[in-house]
Amino acid sequence: MENSRNAMQRKPIRPIAAICNNMGMGKDGKVPWSLPAEFKFFIDTITGVTRPGRMNILVWGRLCWHSFPEALLPLPNALHVVLSNTLKAAPDHAHFLCQDFESAVRLASEPPLADLVETIWVIGGARVYVDTLKHPWCDLLYLTDVMADFDCDVFFPEFDREIFKVQERFPGIPSEIQEENGIKYKFQVFKRIRDA
Ligand SMILES: NC(=O)c1ccc[n+]([C@@H]2O[C@H](COP(=O)([O-])OP(=O)(O)OC[C@H]3O[C@@H](n4cnc5c(N)ncnc54)[C@H](OP(=O)(O)O)[C@@H]3O)[C@@H](O)[C@H]2O)c1
Repeated sequence: MENSRNAMQRKPIRPIAAICNNMGMGKDGKVPWSLPAEFKFFIDTITGVTRPGRMNILVWGRLCWHSFPEALLPLPNALHVVLSNTLKAAPDHAHFLCQDFESAVRLASEPPLADLVETIWVIGGARVYVDTLKHPWCDLLYLTDVMADFDCDVFFPEFDREIFKVQERFPGIPSEIQEENGIKYKFQVFKRIRDA
């Protein structure tokens, strides 16, 4: 695997999610809370590029893709990759269909897209987060801490907090606790400080 990666342009791979007290992140195919400013932070983050004309690759599990509000598509600066072994073609508004996470990484890191792509943002769900956290190119994890209990049926995977260390301060990330709709939450960025 490492040899075949040598021919690829290394791209930062960054999972992004919001999780509540028990690491829950979804219920019945939806996010169980309404935090509009947190959602705006999510959209601004995954669509942010350093120069006009650059793009981010967004990697979605099939259920995440179908739960995203269609009215918000297309997102600027974004190429969407949906992961599925049952779909036969990329769904409406998505650009690519891949059968596994490594194929999505390869797509972003090899010609013709490699010179265009800045960051691979991983939007979820649970299985692709697991793949992502194991990947050596995963340098940062964006994980909003929603400080409340919600009934969830999908959970963010456990990860090693000695490998991914929470940053006290991170450029562009508010460090104070936020509150919306009576729910407190905190933006967090974890940085990989060593290999697994
Ligand atoms: N709070 C948050 O920040 C957040 C973030 C993400 C998701 N969520 C929530 O989580 C739930 C959706 O996540 P989920 O884990 O249930 O589903 P999901 O990962 O979005 O979708 C599962 C399907 O995607 C495909 N898939 C996922 N990973 C794959 C991989 N590595 N390789 C190939 N195919 C892959 C498979 O499709 P096929 O069956 O077609 O093969 C799989 O059955 C929703 O409730 C959503 O709102 C919340």
